[in-house]
Amino acid sequence: MRHDESRALYDRALSVLAGGVNSSVRATQPSPFFVERGDGAHVIDADGNRYIDYVLGYGPLLYGHDVPEPVQAAVQKHAAAGPMYGAPTEIEVEHAEFVARHVPSVEMIRFVNSGTEATVSAVRLARAVTGRDKIVIMQGGYHGAQESTLVEGEPGNVQPSTRGVPSAFAQHTLPVPFNDADAIREVFEEHGDDIAAVMTEPILANTAIVHPVDGYLQTLRDITEEHDSLLIFDEVITGFRVGGLQCAQGKFGVTPDITTFGKIIGGGFPVGAIGGKAELIEQFTPGGDVFQSGTFSGHPVTVAAGHEYLKYAAENDVYDHVNRLGEKLRRGITDILEDQAPEYTVVGTDSMFKTVFTRHGTADRADACADGCTQHESCPNYDACPKTGADVSKAETDRWERVFWQEMKDQGVFLTANQFESQFVSYAHTDEDIEETLEAYKTAL
Ligand SMILES: Cc1ncc(COP(=O)(O)O)c(C=O)c1O
Repeated sequence: MRHDESRALYDRALSVLAGGVNSSVRATQPSPFFVERGDGAHVIDADGNRYIDYVLGYGPLLYGHDVPEPVQAAVQKHAAAGPMYGAPTEIEVEHAEFVARHVPSVEMIRFVNSGTEATVSAVRLARAVTGRDKIVIMQGGYHGAQESTLVEGEPGNVQPSTRGVPSAFAQHTLPVPFNDADAIREVFEEHGDDIAAVMTEPILANTAIVHPVDGYLQTLRDITEEHDSLLIFDEVITGFRVGGLQCAQGKFGVTPDITTFGKIIGGGFPVGAIGGKAELIEQFTPGGDVFQSGTFSGHPVTVAAGHEYLKYAAENDVYDHVNRLGEKLRRGITDILEDQAPEYTVVGTDSMFKTVFTRHGTADRADACADGCTQHESCPNYDACPKTGADVSKAETDRWERVFWQEMKDQGVFLTANQFESQFVSYAHTDEDIEETLEAYKTAL
C-alpha cells in the first residue's frame, strides 16, 4: 500500500493544525491516511487505497457513506434555502416530536452542536435544578471535552486528567467504577445530599464496550431517586445505535431523568441534544433561568439530516440489518479467537463491536457468550471479562495500536486505532464485507 499523498498532506498539516489533525484520535501512527471520499461501507484515501470502514466517523454514520435519498434531498433543500437563520424552523419541531415519540425519557429536547455541549448543559441543568454541585461519573466513561468530567481518580482523590482544568472542578466530581453497586452506595452514603446527578453511558462505549451487569442501571435509578438526585444517561454513542429508535434506555428498561445525544441524531452533521422530562428541560433559558444558547443550535441542515435519518430507520429494515451483521461479525471473531487467541474477549452488542486484548481469559469457552461478551454472571469467562474501565486499561493496548491495527489497515480494514474506541457496522455493510473482514482477522490475530 502506498501512502505518499497522505504523508505529504500530513507534513503540510503538521505546520498549520495542532498535531496535524482536528481531533486527537485521528493522529494514527506512524501517520494518518487522509480520506478523499467515502463509498458505501468503504473509505478511499488520498493514495487511492480502499478500506472497509468500521470507524464510521466514530459513530454517526448509521448508513455508511451512501446517504439514503430522502436524507440527501433534505440536506440539499435546506442548504439551498438558507442555510440557517437565527430564527426557528419547522424542521426543528418535527425532529423534536420524532425523538419525543420514540425515546422513553424524552418529553422535551434542546438541540445543540456537539455531544460535549450536550453533556456540559446537562450537568449545568442538574446542578441548577437540584441546587447541588457534585456529579458522579464512571471511571473510564467519556462525556466529551468538558471540565467537570475530564478528571481521574476516585472519591477523595480526584484530579483533572488534563492540564488546563482547575482542580476546583475535580472537587465536585466523584468517579466510581462502572458495574460496582457497592461503590455507588458508598458514595451516596457519604455525599448523598450534595450529589446533583449520576451521569453515565448506559454501556461504556469509550473504554472498549462494557455492558452493564444485570440490575446495575436499575440500581443507579433507585439510588438517585432515593436521594433526590438526577440520573443522566449519556447516549451520545448508544442513542439510535443500541436498542433501535428507543435507544439503550429502552433496551435496558431504565428511564433516566435526562438524556444526552449526539452523533446519529444529526445524520452525519455536527450535533448534540439534551432531552428529558419537560419540567426539567424547560428550565433552560428562555423558558427558565438556566442559561443555554447557541448560534448554530438546531441548524436546519443538521436537523433535517437527522430527522430523515431516523425516519428512514423507522421505515426500513435498518436495525435488523446492522444488528444481524454486528452479530455475525462478533460470532466470527469469537470463533477465530477460540483457535488463535483464547485469552482475548469480543465485546459489543447491536451494531457495535470490539476485541479487547485481555490477558487472562479462560480457555473453557464452551458456554461463553458466542456473539460478544455481555457481562453475564453465568458465563465461564465472567471473571476475566472487562466489567470496569480499569479492566480495559489493563488490556494490551499497545499491541492493539502498534501491531494489530496496522495489520488490519494493511489488509484494507479500517478499525478504531486504539483499544478503547468502539467500532460500528452500517447499513451499507454487506455479508461479503463481514466475510472479508473475518479473513483479515484470521491473518492479523
Ligand atoms: C458518550 C459520549 N459522550 C460525549 C461525547 C462527546 O461528543 P462530541 O465529540 O460530539 O463532543 C462522546 C464522543 O465520542 C461520547 O462518546
